Amino acid sequence: MRIIVLAGIAAALIAAASCTPGGKTGAASQLKKTPFGSTADGTAIDLYTLANKHGMSAAVMNYGGIVVALKVPGRDGRIDDVVLGFDNLNGYLGTNPYFGAIVGRYGNRIARGRFTLDGVEYTLARNNGENALHGGLRGFDKVVWQARDVSTPGTPRVELRYLSKDGEEGYPGNLSATVTYSVTDANELRIDYLATTDKDTVVNLTNHSYFNLAGQGNGDILKHELQIDADSFTPVDAGLIPTGEPRKVEGTPFDFRQPTAIGARIHENNEQLIRGRGYDHNFVLRGGGGTLAPAAKVYEPTTGRVMEVLTTQPGVQFYSGNFLDGTIRGKGGKVYQQRYGLCLETQHFPDSPNHPSFPTVVLKPGERYQTTTIYRFSTAQP
Ligand code: GLA
Repeated sequence: MRIIVLAGIAAALIAAASCTPGGKTGAASQLKKTPFGSTADGTAIDLYTLANKHGMSAAVMNYGGIVVALKVPGRDGRIDDVVLGFDNLNGYLGTNPYFGAIVGRYGNRIARGRFTLDGVEYTLARNNGENALHGGLRGFDKVVWQARDVSTPGTPRVELRYLSKDGEEGYPGNLSATVTYSVTDANELRIDYLATTDKDTVVNLTNHSYFNLAGQGNGDILKHELQIDADSFTPVDAGLIPTGEPRKVEGTPFDFRQPTAIGARIHENNEQLIRGRGYDHNFVLRGGGGTLAPAAKVYEPTTGRVMEVLTTQPGVQFYSGNFLDGTIRGKGGKVYQQRYGLCLETQHFPDSPNHPSFPTVVLKPGERYQTTTIYRFSTAQP
């Protein structure tokens, strides 16, 4: 009898220990793997849900390394999914603008799908007018990655690996890419990118999540307040290719050095905004790349959600969801109208292979391409 009582007390103590102070759910951090359908050729796809002790979670799948859901608490404790996407795999298998995906080998545009490396000219698939965009016709967003649970105590973590063969989409070298997603108890979604090659090549990996901190599908992002740690940006030509000269943000609608509502200046009669149909530009980060430094911060006034972006990359593409046009019905049947999501794609500058003055994107055998980006969530009072 006595033993049973003691066992009961022990069980209660264990239950209490797993109830974290301040945690909304009391659940311990964990990784859960669930089937998420299969591709046209029958490859099984899984969803990995990484949850921390505060009730924040990220769901990532091995198709495209896509962040399918990202649930974070708001000021009042309510948890919402803050990224655009679909309820099931089929949505992602259809045409969509890179929702949540890993983008590679080369994030953003390469002019006329051409570049020269070591005296050899390489021709890529042109999938954006005359330019190559986001890795080509079947970029890293449309391939199946090998997934592995690499969680450490208290930190759920999933590692995704993909071998991009020499010549794939026109790029030289066998590129071995590894992307690791972690959810930390500091309410961070952390993404670590690693790549090696057996032949000189170019690499620029990023993540293309569309954020709406009011909750996906809940209106446009024009009232989100954005701050970017950049004194200059790279202006573009009519095809959204950088002209090559960085321009100071001072005195332009691209000045986000102080938090400013995204909609405050987006409709100004500014040549760069007209070319981008809004913001679709690379910002030159003050940190310069190489070490983890703040890149941007977003605040959504109604829910109080704050997202800080930190990166080791030298640039961030701020895209204000200009091409969304109400033709996509996403999660929970929500229709995604223009500017219903914003992207902060940490990266090297677009078209770098054709701009020797930009930080290099060349990767050689024996070198390691290694970058980290953190999306950190918190809340603030009005
Ligand atoms: C990037 C580009 C945009 C657009 C989107 C996807 O952010 O810079 O021009 O192509 O991807 O729709």
